[in-house]
Amino acid sequence: MRDLEAILTPFAWIVKMFYALTLLALLATPIHCEASALSKPTLDWDEIKFVHAFGDSYSFVQGTQGLANFSFIGDAQDFSFTPHQLLTNEIIPRNASLIISSQSADTYEEADYGFWLEFLTGCLQGKPSECRRQLWDFSFAGADIDGNLLPLHHPFTVPLVDQVKQWLEFAADIIPHPVGQTLTTWWIGINDTGDTVSNATITDFSAFWEVEMNSYFKAVQAATDRGLQTHLFINVPPEERSPNALGDATKAALLKTHIDEFNDILAGHIAAFEAANPHATVLTFDAHSWFNTVLDNPTSFGFTNTTG
Ligand SMILES: *[C@@H]1O[C@H](CO)[C@@H](O)[C@H](O)[C@H]1NC(C)=O
Ligand SMILES: *[C@@H]1O[C@H](CO)[C@@H](O)[C@H](O)[C@H]1NC(C)=O
Ligand SMILES: *[C@@H]1O[C@H](CO)[C@@H](O)[C@H](O)[C@H]1NC(C)=O
Ligand SMILES: *[C@@H]1O[C@H](CO)[C@@H](O)[C@H](O)[C@H]1NC(C)=O
Repeated sequence: MRDLEAILTPFAWIVKMFYALTLLALLATPIHCEASALSKPTLDWDEIKFVHAFGDSYSFVQGTQGLANFSFIGDAQDFSFTPHQLLTNEIIPRNASLIISSQSADTYEEADYGFWLEFLTGCLQGKPSECRRQLWDFSFAGADIDGNLLPLHHPFTVPLVDQVKQWLEFAADIIPHPVGQTLTTWWIGINDTGDTVSNATITDFSAFWEVEMNSYFKAVQAATDRGLQTHLFINVPPEERSPNALGDATKAALLKTHIDEFNDILAGHIAAFEAANPHATVLTFDAHSWFNTVLDNPTSFGFTNTTG
């Protein structure tokens, strides 16, 4: 399917670096939490048994009940699912042996898209409920934040806010999410920033990102109010440095401006969310800085073929 290639090609190589290097490092060391003086919960990775995920192709994993190459379960035209469908749904394995058997960077060339979550949880195939760390992934490939703000990539695309609706309606009562044992991941924005780069009807991007974030964090709040208390937010990587963007310097510069602004406004909303939810645990991962670091020093991370 051409769509999959479209999703993967421009950024797959850089995302793979991220999987391979970053989350390993992230989890090998205690995750930094803003530990305020109050009784704020902290994250203990050893205690985490459930990971719930929302996002786009960076995060999606394939499920037997999902739309092929787009989701773990359901799509916009097949929006609901029963408890039985959810609980019997299986993650379709990738070539996991490759990933597990070697630590070399080249090996990760074989890993696709949402693999970072599978790698993070070790939930590589089968029913999530049978994994030591259960991965419940509502991400949808090609998702933007909100279909009321930007057109869907396909009639079947489930934007982030609707992923949360699916979770609230069909999953929240079914999948356990005990506080202290549950991590929720949010990674969205690569499509929002990519889709709008040449959108002439948006005259004030800063205002547009604010509107997007209001919608995004309304969904985060709804999930929080329903019991998801520990959140990891990941920002948008420097897509202007991807091979596809490098050919057009003007567009790349514009993308850079938009992504920097998106990430700044995202950071502001994360801080506001944290302030408004003192009992929530908020983690951030600055994928943008990390990717830039790796791209600036590829050989020190073991990457020798850096021509794209
Ligand atoms: C999903 O993607 C794979 C790899 O590109 C492709 O071989 C397969 O045909 C796709 N599946 C569907 C149903 O499009
Ligand atoms: C997994 O990768 C290995 C090494 O490239 C290959 O030999 C094997 O056939 C692959 N397995 C599947 C199921 O694709
Ligand atoms: C999502 O964004 C990436 C990066 O801009 C793009 O390559 C991909 O085509 C988009 N996904 C879809 C389904 O259009
Ligand atoms: C451009 O952005 C506006 C939102 O301000 C949206 O309504 C419109 O559909 C977008 N156009 C395209 C082609 O995506």
